[in-house]
Amino acid sequence: MTDVAERLQELRQTGLHRRLRLVAGPQGPSVQLDGRLVLLLCSNNYLGLADHPQVRAAAAEAAMRWGAGAGASRLISGNMEPHRRLEERLAAFKGYQAALLFGSGYLANIGAISALAERGSVVFSDELNHASIVDGCRLSRAETFVYRHRDVEHLAWGLTQAEGRGALIVTDGVFSMDGDVAPLEALAELASRHDCRLMVDEAHATGALGPGGRGSVAAAGLGEEVDLVVGTLGKALGSYGAYVCASRELSEYLVNTARPFIFSTAPPPPALAAALAALELLESGPQRVERLRANGATLRRALAVEGLDSGGSECQIVPVEVGDADRAMEFCERLLERGVFAQGIRPPSVPEGSSRLRFTVMANHRTAELRRAAKLAGAAARELGVVATGSAARRYASPALAA
Ligand SMILES: Cc1ncc(COP(=O)(O)O)c(C=O)c1O
Repeated sequence: MTDVAERLQELRQTGLHRRLRLVAGPQGPSVQLDGRLVLLLCSNNYLGLADHPQVRAAAAEAAMRWGAGAGASRLISGNMEPHRRLEERLAAFKGYQAALLFGSGYLANIGAISALAERGSVVFSDELNHASIVDGCRLSRAETFVYRHRDVEHLAWGLTQAEGRGALIVTDGVFSMDGDVAPLEALAELASRHDCRLMVDEAHATGALGPGGRGSVAAAGLGEEVDLVVGTLGKALGSYGAYVCASRELSEYLVNTARPFIFSTAPPPPALAAALAALELLESGPQRVERLRANGATLRRALAVEGLDSGGSECQIVPVEVGDADRAMEFCERLLERGVFAQGIRPPSVPEGSSRLRFTVMANHRTAELRRAAKLAGAAARELGVVATGSAARRYASPALAA
């Protein structure tokens, strides 16, 4: 047996083996999954824009006008009109001087963090931050102080210990696996007090929170207190790619130092044109954001009726934690058998012992569909004897955990 085969076997034995499922057709509220029609409750196409006719048309037109790819990195010959146009619009939407596009949210996070923190400095990172933030911290070679989830006192203590070496506080705006929101006002206050930059990842907040879907920073009434806002084009904006909003100076600095920006091909024009069309639809149709919020609340309420706890969720991400990885996957399969697809989430995406079914709703789900899904989830949970253990969000708010 090869070392790889052994490792795969180990993953199977511990319930952590993953396999790809195949979706036919666009990411609508229902999809054909492995040949069966199911209600889709795990797509990040939150506003239903990935398959919107205007978004598709924009991508197709851009492909005809500018071609399928950018052909080079931005700093070689890949900087094209669609890049500049989208950056200007994103900066205006978020209320920042500048926006800089990256290939993906993963690349934006590792690029920005490793550019802003260096060996000898300290990055402060919430323990439930997305993997791309964790990897950015590792790449930076800075010391990383992992503070307990949303625990501002723990962070304040860490900042004091760092004695001026703090380079960056970094947090998800909306936590991707729990759907709860970072305490941004308090983080901004601490960043200012300790002369440390603050970076907020709005991957799941853009299009979902704040006035007109401007995100968690806008929802908290903050702006320039947050030095960098990262967003992705691959979720509510229905396309692919990402951006970092910042001051002109910081943006220029990232152009010169963020390695995934420098050493990777520029995002392709069709993806950018699609994102721009989606942004225009978001700006002209804020009712989609309201609908998304209402749908999140509907699902949470309907799950609660079934005795399923969605923890600290405040938005379109609605987890039902069950603990064990195998049970989470079994829960997923039983629900799939009933025609509802919500993915089981296991380590390393979530901490050990906090595996869950993670529902994500879309603005174009119907209320009746969400109520039906919750009923079916309740039936599957009862069949399995799954008792929700309470959300990671709540458990991790306890000060009992060490960093
Ligand atoms: C909080 C967060 N940040 C960043 C990313 C990565 O974004 P992308 O999919 O554009 O690489 C994700 C993706 O799931 C995420 O949840």
